[in-house]
Amino acid sequence: MRMIVRKAKGLRGQIKVPGDKSISHRALLLGAIAEGTTRIRNFLPAADCLATLACVRALGVEVERLSETELIVHGQGLRGLTEPEDILDCAGSGTTMRLLAGILAGQPFYSMLTGNEQLCRRPMGRIVEPLRRMGATVLGRDDGRLPPLTIHGGNLHGIEYRLPVASAQVKSAILLAGLYADGPTVIHEPGPARDHTERMLAAMGANIQYQISNIKVQSSKLSSLDIVVPGDISSAAYFIAAACLVPGSEVVVVGVGVNPTRTGFLDALKEMGADILVENRRDTGGEPVADVVVRAGCLRGTEVKGDQVPRMIDEFPILAVVATQVQGMTVVSDAAELRVKETDRIANIAVELRKLGAHIEERPDGFVVEGPTPLVGTQVNSHGDHRLAMSLAIAGLVAEGETTIEDAECVADSFPGFEETLKVLMS
Ligand code: S3P
Repeated sequence: MRMIVRKAKGLRGQIKVPGDKSISHRALLLGAIAEGTTRIRNFLPAADCLATLACVRALGVEVERLSETELIVHGQGLRGLTEPEDILDCAGSGTTMRLLAGILAGQPFYSMLTGNEQLCRRPMGRIVEPLRRMGATVLGRDDGRLPPLTIHGGNLHGIEYRLPVASAQVKSAILLAGLYADGPTVIHEPGPARDHTERMLAAMGANIQYQISNIKVQSSKLSSLDIVVPGDISSAAYFIAAACLVPGSEVVVVGVGVNPTRTGFLDALKEMGADILVENRRDTGGEPVADVVVRAGCLRGTEVKGDQVPRMIDEFPILAVVATQVQGMTVVSDAAELRVKETDRIANIAVELRKLGAHIEERPDGFVVEGPTPLVGTQVNSHGDHRLAMSLAIAGLVAEGETTIEDAECVADSFPGFEETLKVLMS
């Protein structure tokens, strides 16, 4: 599928974005091992989360789908999952594979996890190593570094573990396995990776303590919960960026999650001089939510590094687009993780933005963009990466003429309805 975008004159209006992807995955997975029924509203019906839904069902959990976005999960308790009859297919979703591996490490049965070609190239040693240390038998290609993975779990013991990378997926896999372990599991993280698992576990009554960079969990039952998933700030980021860049814009994104481990992109834009207000702050199920008001402005370059990187890990492609339109240099470092996302996002955003005329230089752990440069619409490619496809669409709004994004069907991995939402703001 192709997406065609033309230069925009001003984006105006109030929008909602679909439910948060990370929280939707966790609601299903934790609901599955909780006692009783968990009701999920504003679930994200995107390909990644539907892969988690199919896996959970294959483990013997009944999930009623009341509508596209409303589900009831009949939790089986910690020990009630059953051995799947077939291989569990995680499609392109790293979160599904890594978090599920944590739960499966605690199950006294055999299971196998696979995914599409893209996922089967992504590093799994980062979860396999700690899960083995906890006592699970985990095998995979290249000595457990690559999917497919086979797991035979049970009889786990708690460990103290220092994460080599600030990754919420790795942290969550260990925490979930920790629910099944004898003794406490303690994790030290090198930076503030998103803490949705910790928050949801606490809301479900788990024995968990967490503060900046240190988390401790012990085996405990989970109680069911009513979860209203906040809007996904990573999806909102495209429209927030567009509103900053297209002259005359004013956009309000209503009901978006503003968990501080996810708001690094808002901080970067504010640093760049953007006119952004976060209003009407409230709380749903332990997650902060707000309305974000953005007006077009005159931005300058910035530097992003260190602890800010995990707080905006999925927003670097869209940051690169913004950087092409602002005065001065934008420098990103400490972000080598971007090379092992759905695709190598450093290499691919650089290649594609150059086709539009941007000045962007790749670095091993980031990139440097020199702005402003006038972009000129042409044919670009998503490389099958949803975040690249949507970032390039926003670049198309400020490029002269017409921009065609090839292989844009991957947008449905995280944001079904992206184009329709964009049209609302353009009309
Ligand atoms: C996610 C964590 C991040 C992020 C991904 C979703 C999660 O990955 O890039 O889109 O739901 O835990 P890492 O934890 O591997 O950085």
